[in-house]
Amino acid sequence: MSEQTSTGRYLTEAMRQKLNELAPRYPTKQALTLPALHLVQDRYRCIPPEAIVEIAEFLELAPAQVLDTMTFYGSFFRTPDAPLGQFRIWVCRSLPCSLCGGEELLHKVCHRFGVEPGGTSQDGKVTVEPAECLGACELAPCVWVNGEVVKVTTDADLDQLYERLQAGAIGESAQ
Ligand code: FES
Repeated sequence: MSEQTSTGRYLTEAMRQKLNELAPRYPTKQALTLPALHLVQDRYRCIPPEAIVEIAEFLELAPAQVLDTMTFYGSFFRTPDAPLGQFRIWVCRSLPCSLCGGEELLHKVCHRFGVEPGGTSQDGKVTVEPAECLGACELAPCVWVNGEVVKVTTDADLDQLYERLQAGAIGESAQ
């Protein structure tokens, strides 16, 4: 799903308009880099290299500045040949969650969805990623799916999560 629009550009007119609307809320154009990256990734499920150049041109930055911002955060995917799935599962493996089995849970979740950590299922539905603290340590080991915290402590919970995702019944789905 990383194809360009009919205009041959990744940053669509609607995205440009949205960024222009957001601009007054940000102190500098550079501060719009994150919203721009999110708009592109929400649509294409990755950030193609050409999109980095387009964002840089639109925000009057060097492509390296956009790339710097993008690579600082772990939430952006750079690989058009392996874009994000419709559902993004993050499994926390920071210390509190690790002590409660976060690492083991990551591998269980990967196994259940048939992917390696960081990988996307063959049907393009699910990407499973390791994460740092997700801010819900009281639910350790913490799992996030498209912004929703999901309790996965038993195999039955994992089966239920699998069924919910197959049915598309969780969190915000991809655009
Ligand atoms: S350490 Fe896992 S959610 Fe905080």
